[in-house]
Amino acid sequence: MGLIPNDVINRVIEQSDIVEIIGNYTALKKAGRNFKALCPFHNEKTPSFVVNPDKQIFHCFGCGVGGNAVGFLMRQEHMEFPEAVKFLANKAGVVVPEDETVSLSPSRQLREEIFKINGLAAAFFHETLLTSHEADVKSARDYLKGRGVLLETVKNFQLGFALNEWDALLKFLKSKGISEELISKAGLIVAREGKSGFYDRFRNRTVFPIGDIQNRFVAFGARAIQDSDGAKYINSPETAVYTKGQHMFGLGLTRAAVGKMDQIIVVEGYMDMIMPFIHGVGNIAASLGTALTVEQIRLIRRYTSNVVMLFDTDVAGQSAIVRSLDLLIDEGMNVRVATLAKDEDPDSFIRRQGAEAFRVRVENASSLLDFKFNWLAAQYDPVTVEGKSKISQELLATIARFKSEVAKYELTKSLALKLNIPEGVLLKQAGQAKDPQAAFKMPVVKIKASAWASAGEELLLALFLKDPAWVKAAREKISPEDFPDGEVRQVVDVMWSLADGASEWSVNDILVLLKDESAQSLVTRLISVEEGKLGDAAQVFLDCIGKIQKEKQKKARGRLMQAIREAEALQDTEKLDQLKEQFNQLLKTSC
Ligand code: UTP
Ligand code: MN
Repeated sequence: MGLIPNDVINRVIEQSDIVEIIGNYTALKKAGRNFKALCPFHNEKTPSFVVNPDKQIFHCFGCGVGGNAVGFLMRQEHMEFPEAVKFLANKAGVVVPEDETVSLSPSRQLREEIFKINGLAAAFFHETLLTSHEADVKSARDYLKGRGVLLETVKNFQLGFALNEWDALLKFLKSKGISEELISKAGLIVAREGKSGFYDRFRNRTVFPIGDIQNRFVAFGARAIQDSDGAKYINSPETAVYTKGQHMFGLGLTRAAVGKMDQIIVVEGYMDMIMPFIHGVGNIAASLGTALTVEQIRLIRRYTSNVVMLFDTDVAGQSAIVRSLDLLIDEGMNVRVATLAKDEDPDSFIRRQGAEAFRVRVENASSLLDFKFNWLAAQYDPVTVEGKSKISQELLATIARFKSEVAKYELTKSLALKLNIPEGVLLKQAGQAKDPQAAFKMPVVKIKASAWASAGEELLLALFLKDPAWVKAAREKISPEDFPDGEVRQVVDVMWSLADGASEWSVNDILVLLKDESAQSLVTRLISVEEGKLGDAAQVFLDCIGKIQKEKQKKARGRLMQAIREAEALQDTEKLDQLKEQFNQLLKTSC
């Protein structure tokens, strides 16, 4: 796959509507010519995220990120650059021709290859499950049917079967012209120990492909048919497209419903997700392992902040919930915990008791405080002094993670009631927590310090962004080398190269050429600053250019002084005279 030509990228951006794109992820409110919203990239209670429909850019004054629609999708959907462009092109009906002369970076190419191989493998496993006459496959079909998995579901999730052979998949993929090296990089085959060659990783198992948010297959989980067949599930290893704990099984299929219902039910296992889904529960996804990770929580937060945890009612499941709770609070999520009857999981529960009973369990989910209190009370007796002190210590630490002082106060009050001690005691204890500052403050995402170049240079850049004519004027007096290395310099380089070709250009022409995210954010920030702050443009221009020229001369003088000192040390009188003459010239031109 080749790179997409710049003019096509520009056309795609021109024909896309950034307001519509971003509106899918966060509620935009009109504010003058712009739109404001809560930033989807960091936690905030008051909006500092601005979308500018005229310039088709966004910028967050809270966490400092900004860019165009492509940059937004790359961040929000973790898309690679060409994926984001193609996504927008598709929406806007623009055909993307590919320039085959320039190739993708090797890592991007590898990702594309693995997605393709995973797609082929999923189709191969799926076809086997649907059509094979092998006895093993027949019993797998019976097993799924017995568990209530419909044909429609098998197709929806592209469930499959890996035959009980050493190289069924390997042979198939090789017949498609794919090298063993790539198949191995996709994690689908394993090198034979002590011998050359490979064998299939998944054999004699029902296969659950794991999709990402865009329903591309990133990995596989494979369940043994019989309990005696080794580990219940075997999973793909980490690959260029798969990192454990970064995906939510099923979310690609349910994200729209999750957004609409503004709530997600988080379960543990494949079948725990699939079975309620079959019974009409549309807002559900599985964490596929133990506790939720920060990455998974952030993935969920794109669609909703309301989480109902519904894990197995065994110790492993419940302690996984406890481990998830603090992280969920840190990420600003509202969380409740639903419980099922003992030894039930969501899959068995909904099969036995039906969708209505399931819905009631979710509706009656406990508050975080109730859940964690009960969990602690099962370990420490809340009637004893030690119990009270242990429970209050643990829960106050959790409460301290809330951002709202009101929430903290209310939760502490409820805890006092539960422990049957005066709230003043707990409030005092909360105040005496080891590091209340650290506990009560949220980390703020900050843009790289280097992006805050000196005010003068930024002012000049803002001017350049406002009107390309200023770039033309500046080119006669200064050069990009006069700017210090960093984001400002990158933007200036791009502007100078644009000025070589055209007399006019748009913000997007600049953004498209800027590779670095913090340089893009610098541009969107400067554009989003209110007009009035620029002052008298002509005066600003003269002042800034003057300052840069002075700085340049100062550096030149410094260099000359150094050369003079060296010439003196070497007693090179001829050179010395020459340098002194240069120095005098410099002094004359610079005052
Ligand atoms: P469970 O043991 O609860 O399995 O593990 P399950 O999903 O209920 O499977 P069934 O109902 O017996 O078919 C929950 C999840 O933990 C992961 C899987 O993602 C599983 O769905 N797991 C479990 C593994 O990765 N490997 C294992 O050996 C077991
Ligand atoms: Mn189960």
